[in-house]
Amino acid sequence: MSERTGIAARVVAWQRHHGRHDLPWQRTRDPYRVWLSEVMLQQTQVTTVVAYYEHFLARFPDVASLAEASLDDVLALWSGLGYYGRARNLHRCAQAVVREHGGAFPRDSATLATLPGIGRSTAAAIAAFCFGERAAILDGNVRRVLARVLGFGEDLARAAAERALWQRAHELLPARRVDVYTQGLMDLGATVCSARAPRCGACPLADMCVARRQGEPERFPVKSRRLQRGRRRHALLWLTQATRVWLAQRPSTGVWASLWSLPEHASADALERVVADWPGLGGWCEPVVHTLTHFDWELRPWRHELPARLSAARRAQVERSLGAGRWFDRDEALALGLPAPVRRWIEGD
Ligand code: ADE
Repeated sequence: MSERTGIAARVVAWQRHHGRHDLPWQRTRDPYRVWLSEVMLQQTQVTTVVAYYEHFLARFPDVASLAEASLDDVLALWSGLGYYGRARNLHRCAQAVVREHGGAFPRDSATLATLPGIGRSTAAAIAAFCFGERAAILDGNVRRVLARVLGFGEDLARAAAERALWQRAHELLPARRVDVYTQGLMDLGATVCSARAPRCGACPLADMCVARRQGEPERFPVKSRRLQRGRRRHALLWLTQATRVWLAQRPSTGVWASLWSLPEHASADALERVVADWPGLGGWCEPVVHTLTHFDWELRPWRHELPARLSAARRAQVERSLGAGRWFDRDEALALGLPAPVRRWIEGD
């Protein structure tokens, strides 16, 4: 048995017995639904995605309804899933499918990969699941499985090594049942061949796995350029008056782009200078640390409650020092696209 048929046959057989079968996007070949699930799954775990997926589909059942929606409505439904660039690209992609492809997703991975937010792996997954195309994927989980079973020790920070692994992934594709094989590789990576402490005893590829034979499967995949994590600190102004909260829309680029949030200040000192002569009560809350790809972001909210009754002149004075933003009633605020920690603060208030 060649390496190709050996690996693929085992992955397909394993998927049938031990893989995941009951996820909502597995009951369909509708590319809209498969695309939505793959984009949600790009940086978010299956258990979180399931709830968002159904909710999103109830509101936007097809690509045309999503293309017509406002970005604010899309961001509101995405709120809490994080990595909001995905939601903006999702919206753009729906519009491109309607405008440039007559409302139907392209049926091949090469054309799918030209659409916003659809990278090579996502394009291949959609084409394999919906149209049976023999296209290789290499997302984080699959990269780990393949690097280990093949003992692929080249440094994947190098583009040439990355290309070589794509080529190997392509060579391993079975002639048939690419959909089951692709799902099987994803599930193996997610449930058995984990980054730390892989469960080799449960792996159908264990006896042919080069990394396991060498004794240290966790060493694969090899990638030299480690992220340098930094920490940034900002202060947020959490201003309320009776049932209202003051929110400002974030800039259209950067972290939490276009979401409504508590206004950000460069430092605690800067914020304290702004609120120094305001009426009402204020004080610092416990900070939260929000983990982003390149840095940890520490956010410390200053909670300030204005008196329920305030002269128009006093209110105008406060609002002048606030800059852009506006008041929202609490329920109105919770219906917006809010960053997850901001939502938790307002919900818990
Ligand atoms: N991660 C990315 N795509 C996935 C899928 N189709 N099933 C499970 N996990 C995934």
